[in-house]
Amino acid sequence: MIKITISIMMVLLMGNLTWGQEPIEHPPEQYDRKDFTEDARISRGGQLYDNWWKTKLHIDKPSEDHPLWKLQSTNKRSGYSTWRCKECHGWDYRGKNGAYSKGSHFTGFEGVYEASQKMSIRELEGTLKGSTNNDHDFRSYISEEDISDLALFLKKGTADLTVMLNSEGVYEEGLIFYRTNCMTECHGPDGTSLNFGNEEKPQFIGTIANKNPWEFIHKAWAGQPGSRMSSGIINKWTDNDMRNLLKYSQSLPDKVPEMGWLDRTKEFFGMGKKKASYNPNEYRGFGPKFAEYN
Ligand code: HEC
Repeated sequence: MIKITISIMMVLLMGNLTWGQEPIEHPPEQYDRKDFTEDARISRGGQLYDNWWKTKLHIDKPSEDHPLWKLQSTNKRSGYSTWRCKECHGWDYRGKNGAYSKGSHFTGFEGVYEASQKMSIRELEGTLKGSTNNDHDFRSYISEEDISDLALFLKKGTADLTVMLNSEGVYEEGLIFYRTNCMTECHGPDGTSLNFGNEEKPQFIGTIANKNPWEFIHKAWAGQPGSRMSSGIINKWTDNDMRNLLKYSQSLPDKVPEMGWLDRTKEFFGMGKKKASYNPNEYRGFGPKFAEYN
């Protein structure tokens, strides 16, 4: 009886404090392409740039290395990784002149930012059909629509991230932005509700924001392939929003904090389900939150 009374009190007390109780189902949805605005296509292009196999349904992953991979020997990855645009050209779109100028991802390949400024959309599409190099023809895997979304992203969705990240964001603004856009449904108050890594080597918002701000910006901007994560492109977030969000996210922990008394009590009463059941690596397809964009 006492336990029941306490239990009821706890429910009343913590009604406002609980979150992430319901399993979050996020299967990516398929939208009719004719409903796509230009922003939706740019966002989709950015997700293809990140990971085209995850953005598309009904397509096999190449198992061999990309034919251009043999031109380099410094990056030891193999298989599908070698087919991702970001692996050769970087999260900051600057290839060998950017963040991948050193470290295990170094290939020596050029970036795409300058080309995206200089070339027309047609020319950019051409590069993905082998116009500059036969081995850079992606048509066995991706469609004309994918190619045009990718070119549109390069032309209109990329920015010089070095310049963008030159000035710092404002922590307090980022906090409000984070709580409004990222916390409730998905990432939780401290960004540890979704683990992009695994149990042993967890990766949270805080991990990516600190380790790889360019990846952080790219994903917050274009959206995460195979999830319904919002896209800054579709939601028309500004450069300042992105900088503020990054600044705040860099303060988030890279491991799950020890449980405090509140969480332990919640767990005791069977209310402590802290992690959403959604696994970020589970799904494929393009499915940003369209609620904001409709
Ligand atoms: C295996 C590494 C690799 C992958 C994966 C790759 N590229 Fe490239 N990309 C290159 C190389 C090398 C060049 C220079 C090719 C050439 O023209 O000789 C290049 C050139 C380009 C260019 C022209 C740049 C310029 O300055 O002329 C664009 C645009 C481009 N890639 C976009 C993409 C996109 C989009 C993807 C993903 C669908 C992609 N690349 C995937 C290696 C790669």
